[in-house]
Amino acid sequence: MTATRPDDPHAPLPPSLPTDTPFRLLVEAVEDYAIFLLDAYGRVATWNNGARRIKGYDASEIVGRHFSVFYPPDAIAARKPQQELEMAARAGRVEDEGWRIRKDGSRFWANVVVTALHDPQGTLIGFAKITRDMTDRLRLAELQHARELSAHVQSALENERASISRELHDDLGQQLAALKMQVSILRTGAADAHVVQQALAQIDTIIGSVRRISAGLRPPVLDDLGLFAAIDWLVCDFRRRFDLAIRLDIDGDEDGLDTAASTSIFRLVQEALTNVVRHAHASEVRISIVCARSRCILTIEDDGRGADITRARPDGTFGLLGMGERVRQLGGAIEFRSAPGEGFSIRADIPLPGPARDEP
Ligand SMILES: Nc1ncnc2c1ncn2[C@@H]1O[C@H](COP(=O)(O)OP(=O)(O)O)[C@@H](O)[C@H]1O
Ligand SMILES: [Mg+2]
Repeated sequence: MTATRPDDPHAPLPPSLPTDTPFRLLVEAVEDYAIFLLDAYGRVATWNNGARRIKGYDASEIVGRHFSVFYPPDAIAARKPQQELEMAARAGRVEDEGWRIRKDGSRFWANVVVTALHDPQGTLIGFAKITRDMTDRLRLAELQHARELSAHVQSALENERASISRELHDDLGQQLAALKMQVSILRTGAADAHVVQQALAQIDTIIGSVRRISAGLRPPVLDDLGLFAAIDWLVCDFRRRFDLAIRLDIDGDEDGLDTAASTSIFRLVQEALTNVVRHAHASEVRISIVCARSRCILTIEDDGRGADITRARPDGTFGLLGMGERVRQLGGAIEFRSAPGEGFSIRADIPLPGPARDEP
């Protein structure tokens, strides 16, 4: 076909098209974004190639259906689709990220922008929705996190080994050498009661050192007292050392928690309280642990200065990441909520091991 130069006065006029068509063709052809319109009730009104590719429906299958079919059941139960439209209608535009469902039932991680559309009189006529499939990016970010975490765990392990070996050598090693000297004096038969007394005192010091070194490896209060009492002890310790107001509510019983779960919950509370001391400038912290039926829900909230957690994780920080990893290893879920000036809250939902108990 010959190209027509637009400045050629003899060029034939292009076939006249309805004015909206080139734009509609453009939108329909886009493959990387699902771009479609909803009517004011949230029913799908148009559909493009990207929407078909990302969500799996043909236009004929989806036009006219309510857009809540794209949401997972828990989001529907929480009225998320309606809330999204209400917010867009109020604010003009809303952006969200979350899991969505394809026609075949599989999930994808979506970035969604909903824009409210009004007629010239200002009446709401519908919504424009743009959805991007971010699953690959999410997986990549998770992989990156996992790599960093594993490198951090490796170096933490190395550091811990080095410190245990130092303790064993400098402390236990020296004391055992001293004890050996005392015992060899005893063997010569020249020793008096005083040397025996010294040797006994030396043995007591050694026992104390062994306790101290092993306490660094695992909180001994956990074994001695059990989780709830150990957390009570931890909370009292923070109250005393940092003059922090902490409310602690514990409900249910700890029998369903195995060693792994109780160690993780203890470390979670410890890290969260350390964060409050380091970052929050809070006047109050509320901790609640509810173990009932087949799960344990742990929440830790402070009223401090909060943080913008939508921003990338600061370099070299592993506390929150480690909390997430601990909870994931137990098959649970963790959620952080915070914004500058609005405190910081952590909610972990941990399934109790063993067969699911009967719901009352
Ligand atoms: N309770 C809190 N209040 C305010 N900011 C917090 C709180 N907990 C965590 N943060 C913020 O989150 C970041 C990451 O926390 P974390 O992963 O524990 O790393 P670190 O404590 O080593 O900085 C902190 O640097 C801080 O900015
Ligand atoms: Mg921390």
